Amino acid sequence: MWRAPGRVNLIGEHTDYNDGFVAPIALPLGITARVTATTDGAVHARSVGVEPARFDLAGLAPGTVEGWAAYVAGVVWALAERGHDITGADIDLDGDVPHGAGLSSSAALECVVAIALDDVFGLGLTRDELIAVARRAENDYVGLPNGVLDQSASLLCRAGHVLLLDTRSGERRHVPFDLAAAGLALLVIDTRAPHRLVDGEYAARRRDCEAAAAELGMTALRDVVDLVAALAALTDERLRHRVRHVVTENARVLEVMGILDGGGDLRAIGPVLIASHMSLRDDYEVSSPELDLAVSAALGAGAHGARMTGGGFGGSAIALVDAASADDVTAAVTAGFAAAGFGPPSVFAAVAADGAHRVEV
Ligand code: GLA
Repeated sequence: MWRAPGRVNLIGEHTDYNDGFVAPIALPLGITARVTATTDGAVHARSVGVEPARFDLAGLAPGTVEGWAAYVAGVVWALAERGHDITGADIDLDGDVPHGAGLSSSAALECVVAIALDDVFGLGLTRDELIAVARRAENDYVGLPNGVLDQSASLLCRAGHVLLLDTRSGERRHVPFDLAAAGLALLVIDTRAPHRLVDGEYAARRRDCEAAAAELGMTALRDVVDLVAALAALTDERLRHRVRHVVTENARVLEVMGILDGGGDLRAIGPVLIASHMSLRDDYEVSSPELDLAVSAALGAGAHGARMTGGGFGGSAIALVDAASADDVTAAVTAGFAAAGFGPPSVFAAVAADGAHRVEV
């Protein structure tokens, strides 16, 4: 049996499809898969709380399987596209990463199916190849044009470390991230607010970035070295805001890594997280009233820093707090949500866990 986790991204939001840097940790929450090879030319997939799915491998193509099983079918299809023929499989899934919370339950599902099929059929794929398969499933089968953050986190992260990934070169480093030793905790605040317009808006941000890079004559916004000059060269006000977010966010990833590498006070990460949130809210325009409230209520209750994490428009925020004040911050955020007439959030402390791994049964 295999397990692949969800994630929170510490810093580096909407940078991955701009060839930039990301810095996620994997969560202890994830999805497990037990896969048995069969030869009947079909996949049977079951998961707790949803309708079982069955699809034929012959004729499998984008659009042939819909709903939750599309993530499973997408992985099988992406493997077939690479020349790996799956003869049939029974797939039993279970999980505890909430769906729609911006914690990458979809990537966890894709990654656990990919790594379990790889194992059962002896395909011998590397983790990087599995990332490519899982991402292809999401991009080309499910149809979401996302970057490589979520699948990389699910397959590469290590317990006790934040993953610093250069999404252009693939270069990576596992940077020690021991908040507990510093008397700190990272709270995840799942707003439980439904994602609004996520898919269309995500693709729209991506198009904005591509348009800006094209106008600047660059491959990707990662290539901007002089932000002032780049902003002056752009004619469209909205694109200027998008570019400013991406370029400053990339710099913030490196700033946080400098703090982690420097071995100094980890509280110094806090202001960088706040700056990231403001940039995502004002320049990138992907926050939501619930996310903004989660951040302001956490800061008001003494958090050192807080920001939305993931794609935005709902989902989750993170807050860096003194471990001793975690309960107070949780209570303040919960009270703030009630006062605003929002449904109750779900708040828990994130621990940097291992990426996809085999689990004994
Ligand atoms: C979603 C996408 C990722 C990334 C984030 C924003 O989670 O799946 O690829 O772009 O949004 O950082």
